[in-house]
Amino acid sequence: MTKQAEKNPAENLQLLEEVAGLVGTPYWLVDAATLRGRIADIKRVAEAADVKVRFAVKSCPATMVLAEMHRNGIWIDAVSGNEVLRAMHAGYPGGHNPPKIMFTADVFRDNAMHVVMENNVLPNIGSPGQVQDLAQAGYADEIAVRINPGFGHGHVNACDTGGPSSKHGVWMSQAAEVGKAAAQAGMRITMLHAHIGSGPRMEELLANLERLAKEFALLAPHFPSVNAVSLGGGIPHTYREDLPAVDIAPLAGLFVEARRILQEAMGREIRLEIEPGRHFVAPAATLVGRVSDVKKTEKNEKGEGRTFVMVDAGFVDLARPAMYGSYHRISVPGRAGEATESVVVAGPLCESGDVFTRDAGELLTPRDLPMPQRGDLLCLHDGGAYGYAMASNYNSIGRAPQVWLEEDGSKRLMSRRETVEEILSLEEGPEGSAL
Ligand SMILES: Cc1ncc(COP(=O)(O)O)c(C=O)c1O
Repeated sequence: MTKQAEKNPAENLQLLEEVAGLVGTPYWLVDAATLRGRIADIKRVAEAADVKVRFAVKSCPATMVLAEMHRNGIWIDAVSGNEVLRAMHAGYPGGHNPPKIMFTADVFRDNAMHVVMENNVLPNIGSPGQVQDLAQAGYADEIAVRINPGFGHGHVNACDTGGPSSKHGVWMSQAAEVGKAAAQAGMRITMLHAHIGSGPRMEELLANLERLAKEFALLAPHFPSVNAVSLGGGIPHTYREDLPAVDIAPLAGLFVEARRILQEAMGREIRLEIEPGRHFVAPAATLVGRVSDVKKTEKNEKGEGRTFVMVDAGFVDLARPAMYGSYHRISVPGRAGEATESVVVAGPLCESGDVFTRDAGELLTPRDLPMPQRGDLLCLHDGGAYGYAMASNYNSIGRAPQVWLEEDGSKRLMSRRETVEEILSLEEGPEGSAL
């Protein structure tokens, strides 16, 4: 990535205040240059090894982001019927030739089956019974199968995507049976897939992916129609400022080796795929909130006193710290370089866990920050992946707006602040309505 693209506009107080004046706080700032830098980085590694790249929509489903992916020739991994429709809304075609959109899920919910059938989207099934679901719906075409290879590493235990305690995929030793059931129902398995999680370290991912290629090679004799293999997503992103950025260059060699292993086992050319989410988008979005107060508790028999920096952004906007104890860099752009103090940063929700500085054990982990004052802006960085995507309107607080910062400095509204009318529009009024 160029130095220019790495330069974070979320440190530019004047710009941040200007956007706050336009849309209020809190808001999300999406930096086009950073996003494009990451797209270019991933494409470079993939193209070096002739790997097809999908974007895991779940990490950041905004239409402007999907449109940017589409312009760059990135395909789509969607995990719900509505994510398929979102991709199509952003310009992606349905269809199998080529399968630019793939639908990956262990359960067909809501409109998922209808959307898959209607748009002839490649289904990637993660549960044996889904062959029957598809057959009952009259589907008799190509499918992909998501395998649980029995190993892998999430960034936290709750995100572990491979192993006996993971709900995802078809257990390796049952894959051949699924293949037979699919053939009996007139379906052809043309792709094998696994996503084994975003371990925090690149070396771990490389070792896991090589092992995965070898496991897939063992399955090869059972799947004579397979012409594509996906190694899933999981390219890490470094959230901590004190750790080096992830270097993805070694992935190219791994992909070349994985293809060699797979093609040797299958005796034919295959399309090798990956589907990262996090690494594409994590650094591209910053949650910008305003400090409403700084208050203190005092030491007593239950523990130490703390300094709480109260902001108007909460886990309705960025759930990862409250959900997994995830670390997000925090800055106070107007006070860069000032002396720091140990503070806890907390949000507006009626929940004690609405705290951005905590660890996976649910404990407060105060952070050394320049002491903000009431009215300062405060930034939570690297929220592009699983940030707005996981936002909710808990406490009936409307979702914050997303603003796109173009490379020439111009700004575009990606989504506006959710209103109470929009929240109430799903409700049928004080009496409900007859069913
Ligand atoms: C099936 C699948 N593919 C890809 C991804 C993207 O993972 P990451 O954002 O870690 O790259 C996920 C995320 O959980 C996933 O479930």
